[in-house]
Amino acid sequence: MQITFLVANEVFTCRFDLRHGLAHVSGGRFPEPGTAGNLPSGECYIVPYEGELQDASVTSGILPVQFNHEVVLYRLEENRAVDVVSDGPFSDSEKDRIHKEPAYANIAETGFGVLHDFGIRPIGEILLDEKLGRHIAFGRSDHFGGITGPALFSSPEAV
Ligand SMILES: [Fe+2]
Repeated sequence: MQITFLVANEVFTCRFDLRHGLAHVSGGRFPEPGTAGNLPSGECYIVPYEGELQDASVTSGILPVQFNHEVVLYRLEENRAVDVVSDGPFSDSEKDRIHKEPAYANIAETGFGVLHDFGIRPIGEILLDEKLGRHIAFGRSDHFGGITGPALFSSPEAV
């Protein structure tokens, strides 16, 4: 799957390797006793292939993420943010963070929320806001099918 981003008239492209994994639906129904999920619901999502089998992940490209008025441009290779190619205080901070905490640099999820089409607007809470549209998550993935778990982080506080 390829996603193209338009940022200030500049085009950036990311390719996400969706092989080997299963997508999940967060539809708000938990018909099997003992099943857990987060609420509100309203997305489907998948952990991109993290390279745990013989072949390398082909998730790659430039991923733009806005922090206040700055757009941080992460360079992705093999399903990880390996560098930041933009300039500014958030870019510097994120560059430092992905090098100090490699598990944070893992691309953990690409999801497709649907609630924006029902008139819901962002409120600053990630579990709702991610359900509004397309989103990409960094870090831990083992709780929804990936291999990046707490043991790969430097401390419990870093997870
Ligand atoms: Fe999500």
